[in-house]
Amino acid sequence: MIRVENLFKSFRSKPVHKGVSLEVQEGEIYTIIGGSGTGKSVLLKQIVGLIRPDQGEIYVDDKRLTTLSEEELQDVQKMIGYVFQESALFDSLTIGENVAFGLRNLSDTKEPKITEIVREKLALVGLSGVEKLKPAQLSGGMKKRVGIARAMAMNPKILLYDEPTTGLDPVMSDVISNLILEVKKHSGSTAIVVTHDMKAAYEISSRICMLYEGKVLEAGTPSQIRFSNNPIVQQFISGSSEGPIPVPTIDLV
Ligand SMILES: Nc1ncnc2c1ncn2[C@@H]1O[C@H](COP(=O)(O)OP(=O)(O)OP(=O)(O)O)[C@@H](O)[C@H]1O
Ligand SMILES: [Mg+2]
Repeated sequence: MIRVENLFKSFRSKPVHKGVSLEVQEGEIYTIIGGSGTGKSVLLKQIVGLIRPDQGEIYVDDKRLTTLSEEELQDVQKMIGYVFQESALFDSLTIGENVAFGLRNLSDTKEPKITEIVREKLALVGLSGVEKLKPAQLSGGMKKRVGIARAMAMNPKILLYDEPTTGLDPVMSDVISNLILEVKKHSGSTAIVVTHDMKAAYEISSRICMLYEGKVLEAGTPSQIRFSNNPIVQQFISGSSEGPIPVPTIDLV
């Protein structure tokens, strides 16, 4: 469903991706882990066509993104629900209008149906009745959940979740993890999840891949990752500051 081939991306000559390749099968929940700044969000943005790669190819549902016209790219984007790391809600719109945005602007769904879908998706993320509020009136975790409801509103074939449980309390994190699993089961959709939440990653993933120094360091089933022999993978998943991964030194004077 999604194929990334030998992707290179730099920002002002600073390399982020140095040959990333991965393949996500239809119906999978594919989780990407990796240190802060390793390019997880930039990878999702390239998959959805918001950032162009310097080199390499991305295929979504067999369409080669680099060769598509604006219009063809928009058709691919309509198949994808994107949960942004920073929620990215429109501040001037109400929560209901935010969730309805894609349905109103990119589909021919009619009004009473839109209201019903908005209510249903907000209920799924535990936020019934907030339609009339503005984003500024919600907590960070609530905004995150509105972002998830918005991404699900068009029943997309592919869902990209950028840290869907970050900033949520442990119970709500579990609710969202279960929701990601349920949505996959019901609609057969394909998902890529970027997360630092290893508990969620083990529970929901078909496969997990770790990005490190611009490449995929290791990819495998949750248990293959959990019991990996690679000391970098082990240090990362156990969350230790001791090991091969360079960390800032603390030198108080
Ligand atoms: N639009 C941009 N312009 C310039 N540099 C960027 C841009 N977007 C990302 N970067 C840089 O690319 C690198 C990877 O960023 P990215 O946001 O993908 O990291 P990440 O793996 O998602 O990290 P985190 O876990 O903290 O969210 C960082 O060094 C970042 O500064
Ligand atoms: Mg990120």
